Amino acid sequence: MSGLDGKTILVSGAGSGLGRAAARLFAQQGAKLVLLGRRAEPLRETLSDASIATLDHSDETAVAAFAQSCPPLDGMFLAAGQLLTGSVESTPTEAFDAMLRANLRGPWLLCHHLGPRLNPGASVVLVGSNIALRAIPDSAAYSVSKAAVHMLGQVLALEWAPRNIRCNAIAPGPIHTPMLEARLAQSPDPAGDLARLSRVNPLQRLGHENEVAHLAAHLLSDESTWTTGTIIPIDGGAAAVY
Ligand SMILES: NC(=O)c1ccc[n+]([C@@H]2O[C@H](COP(=O)([O-])OP(=O)(O)OC[C@H]3O[C@@H](n4cnc5c(N)ncnc54)[C@H](OP(=O)(O)O)[C@@H]3O)[C@@H](O)[C@H]2O)c1
Repeated sequence: MSGLDGKTILVSGAGSGLGRAAARLFAQQGAKLVLLGRRAEPLRETLSDASIATLDHSDETAVAAFAQSCPPLDGMFLAAGQLLTGSVESTPTEAFDAMLRANLRGPWLLCHHLGPRLNPGASVVLVGSNIALRAIPDSAAYSVSKAAVHMLGQVLALEWAPRNIRCNAIAPGPIHTPMLEARLAQSPDPAGDLARLSRVNPLQRLGHENEVAHLAAHLLSDESTWTTGTIIPIDGGAAAVY
């Protein structure tokens, strides 16, 4: 019997990057998966035999309708999100609002509407960021939205504890996914940026999607039944040093 045997787990953002790697690992560990994203094809590519739900997680009508048909859940890994660069002064207010919708309203709505579908003993993992723990230049709206996700995880840990449901947030450093690729593609010096990103942590490299997936699997499993309300950096040690 492996870590997630028999559990039904929803993964948002499952068509790409961290969500895709996690969904595949959870399936290998025996979980039944419900994959969520805006486009069906990438979700099918992740796992052809999983249930899929195509919706924008910031659309309350769509999330509420999905919650009516969603099976009872033993876990959620809420990885869907978007990245936006810019400072407080350079970010248009509409772009700030869009960032909050994509990174905060989405997981909030999923927890609001799917919370009642969680079985006793369930576990939820939210995806924040290590740049929501320490400020860096040029990612203002993103960092602020992810800092709110960290607090959402702590509030839910408190609210769900009487039902023996746990909630934790993870705070990854840079991982080589399509999101990071898109950011590098906008840079005048992608190779230099990649090298700089790799140097900011003691282990001197980017993270791998599977390293994050294994942490999420641990938090969703019964190996971690006393772990709730935490914000766990997974960043090669970056959060530990200046
Ligand atoms: N990669 C990193 O370095 C890094 C570091 C720290 C934190 N994170 C966080 O980790 C999570 C996963 O990142 P990633 O690097 O794997 O990014 P990614 O490859 O761009 O994947 C993001 C996924 O989210 C889905 N998505 C985006 N907006 C959505 C919406 N409104 N409704 C439903 N689904 C939506 C996308 O699918 P569709 O386009 O089909 O909807 C996509 O599958 C994000 O929350 C990100 O902020 C990433």
